[in-house]
Amino acid sequence: MPNVVAVVVAAGSGTRLGGEGPKALRDVAGAPLVVHALAALAAGGVSFAVVVVPALRRTDFERALAAAPLPHRTVVGGAERQQSVLAGLEAVAAGTRIVLVHDAARPFVPAPVVQRVIDAVRAGADAVIPVLPVVDTVRQVTGETSVVLERTSLRAVQTPQGFNLDVLLASHHAALAAGLAATDDARVCEFAGHPVTLVEGHREAFKVTEPIDLALAEALAASRTGVSR
Ligand code: CTP
Ligand code: MG
Repeated sequence: MPNVVAVVVAAGSGTRLGGEGPKALRDVAGAPLVVHALAALAAGGVSFAVVVVPALRRTDFERALAAAPLPHRTVVGGAERQQSVLAGLEAVAAGTRIVLVHDAARPFVPAPVVQRVIDAVRAGADAVIPVLPVVDTVRQVTGETSVVLERTSLRAVQTPQGFNLDVLLASHHAALAAGLAATDDARVCEFAGHPVTLVEGHREAFKVTEPIDLALAEALAASRTGVSR
């Protein structure tokens, strides 16, 4: 099987989570989020990770990552997620065909989700995203007015997203040249004219964003190891 490389973006500051230090170094169940994320990717079949870290904390990340069960290297990220992804992609070894882009802030993505994404790229898809039905009713607000969106047609998008490396790199360069700002990589590929393939995501691939998500992460880690507190 050819190698699958993951770009794991961990260079954000975690403003919405608050607290001390970068979000990806926050401890859950005895290990930093970024180490859990690498373990989850390894379990799903990823063979190497490029971890994108904040310039000022690179040494701290490298120390934390020494415990990760996946070979890796670090590179320095940028001010926006899109810049961090591009920095990571440019560090992926030439000749790699399949690349996953994953948020370090999604520490517990189940292995079958990672495998589904990889399998779809292997089967020939250029861009693959794991998605979930939306549970809340969603309204689109414009100024003073709002309209309800048809929930059954909506999907929440998770990571890891999977790509043909050449397609994703070219798409990111095209987006950069056009000044497109996107919050995920499939959007970047779509902008460059590539179709996006959907596979089933999982609630446990949730993103640690706000303080309540840390409580959920701790509870999930405890339930997986059978430890009750
Ligand atoms: N990320 C990154 N580089 C950035 C911004 C974000 O690598 N300049 C990464 C984060 O580290 C995270 C992922 O992108 O793993 C998803 O972003 P998000 O959840 O928004 O994390 P933060 O940007 O760190 O959090 P916040 O938006 O609350 O500041
Ligand atoms: Mg952010």
